[in-house]
Order: sequence, then structure tokens, then C-alpha cells
Amino acid sequence: MANKKRLLSGIRPTGSLHIGHYLGVLRNWAKLQNEHECFYFIADWHSLTTKYKDTSELQKDILEVAKDIIASGINPNKATLYVQSAIPEVAELHLLLSMVTYQNWVERDPTLKDMVRLLAEDEEKAKGEVTYGLLGYPVLMTSDILSVLGEFVPVGKDQVAHLELSRDIARRFNHIYKTDLFPEPKALLTETPSVPGIDGRKMSKSLNNDIKIIDSEAETLKKVKQMITDPKKIKKTDKGEPNDCQVVYKHYEIFADKKTLEIVQDECRGTKIGCVDCKTRLAGIINASLSEVRKKRESLNTDKEILEILDIGNKKARQVAKHTLEKVRDAMKLKTWS
Ligand code: TRP
Repeated sequence: MANKKRLLSGIRPTGSLHIGHYLGVLRNWAKLQNEHECFYFIADWHSLTTKYKDTSELQKDILEVAKDIIASGINPNKATLYVQSAIPEVAELHLLLSMVTYQNWVERDPTLKDMVRLLAEDEEKAKGEVTYGLLGYPVLMTSDILSVLGEFVPVGKDQVAHLELSRDIARRFNHIYKTDLFPEPKALLTETPSVPGIDGRKMSKSLNNDIKIIDSEAETLKKVKQMITDPKKIKKTDKGEPNDCQVVYKHYEIFADKKTLEIVQDECRGTKIGCVDCKTRLAGIINASLSEVRKKRESLNTDKEILEILDIGNKKARQVAKHTLEKVRDAMKLKTWS
């Protein structure tokens, strides 16, 4: 463990996760747990930055996400799996780091600007609804990372802007308080396919176009059958063009092996297969690649067991964060009160 680098990543509890999360995030987390000392957490405070009004499903969502994470192969004996709000030291660090973070650093963050834009587009929420908490989004992320002195942070492209800010904050803290306590965390960009939703837009729970990890095979088939196909191919005997059938074809590219991909292309262009058959075959391929995760997911049904796993992870992460915060207070000439 000694020469392994510390790595941290988080995911917001949006409820049951979809196959985009599995391919883009969780599969990667499972791989990384063998290469680094990993801290993975459920970012419930982050979800409050936009969804603070209706929190009725929050605890249920946290459990669902925890189950999806474990089912995807993250082993709580290898990686520390915890819940953000179980670590009050993260909130304290957020407060302290906010003192050294310039307002315009936060306001410049392009990912945050995008979030604000999205909020404004949402009819229920006017632009004026951007809260102080939402502005602090990247500072809270920085606190997550630095509370365990994380050096690497596997994230998607959209999160890189936040991480730039984390590096700036870490550097400025070290400079002001003449310490080398904080590492400058680096983004680990992984090449992950971006999975379109069944309507061709970005796959997302809120757009109701997602295929979930927990969906049954029948539900998956039903959703795949709703995918839009090449409008020129109405009957099996019409020639199709996979390039004009982006949603279905993209899923083939992501889930099928090369040979299957070529066969399907040929059969579509050569009028040997109709769209319904093509999509049925695709659903079979998606179901096959998820079958192991789904089986594990089903075997994990007791909430008590999951809560116990999280409890152990919370304690481990908190221990580390407590230690970091003692050093932070020292550096700032604050006191650790008994
Ligand atoms: N903002 C991240 C997302 O939406 C989740 C997150 C919160 C995170 N804190 C983090 C990711 C710290 C990496 C490190 O995907």
C-alpha cells in the first residue's frame, strides 16, 4: 500500500444508475481499485447544491447508488466506500478553503457556468435561484479531494474545470500557510464511450431516456425497441444505412465486438435484417454484458448489509480526514479543541 498513490472520486446520488454510469464511471473505478489506494464516495451534499428542496428520496437514492457501485465490482475491502455527509471534516475544510478561494475563481469555472445555465433553463427554477451553496460546488469538491490528500481524481471531461480550481486552491493554501500539506490533485481522464440515451440525447435519468443497471432484460428490450432507427428503412427489404441510425449503431459500437458489428452493418445494408430484429439482437448483447453486474445487484438486497459496509467506509475515511484537518488547523494557527 505504501507506494500506491491515493485516488479519490465521487458520484452524486441520483437514484439507480444507468449503463452510461456503469461504462463511464463504475467499470473504471473497479479497475483502479487494483492499482491505487482508492476512496470512493457518494456525494450527497453535492446533490443538495441543486436538489435541496425535495430530499424525500435522498436516503433511498444513496442506498441504490451504493448497491450499483458494489454490484459493478467495487470491493469495499479494497477501496474505501463512504458517504460524503458522514465526514463533517469535509464541511469544515470547505469553510476554511472558502477563505482562500477568490470569488472570481469560482465564477469563472466553465462547468459551474454550465450548471447555472441548465438551472436557468429549467422552468421551475429561475436564474436567481443560484445559491451560495451551488457557487461553492467546486470548493466542496476540492475539500473532498484534499481531506484525504488525494493525488489522482478519475473524472469525466466535464469535471476537469473544477479540478483546475482544486489545483489552484491547493497551491494557494500551501503558499499562504507555507506548507506542502496539500498535493495538487490531477485529473485522470479515462477514455470512456459516451452512451446516448434511447432518444439520442445524452443518457440521463431526468430525460427519462436511460437504461438502468437494475432494469430487467425485458425492460431493456422494451427500451431498446423504442430507439429511433433510419427513417428510410421501413421494411426489412429497404436498404438501411447504419450511419443514419446513430442511436442503435452507437450502442452496437459500444457493446458488441467488432465482428458482430460488421455482420450487422452488412445485414442492414444488404436487406437481410429488419430494424426490430436488429434491436432485439442489440438488447441481447446489452443484457449479456450486464448479466454479471445485474446478478450481483440482485443478490445485494438487504439494506442493512449495505449500511454496514458504508459504516465501515465512513469510519475509515473519517479517520484520514480527521488527521488531515489537524494539520490544516495547525497550518492556519487554529486549534484542535478537545
Ligand atoms: N462533481 C462530481 C460529478 O458530478 C461528483 C464529485 C463530487 C466528485 N465530489 C467529487 C468527483 C470529488 C471527483 C472528486 O460527477
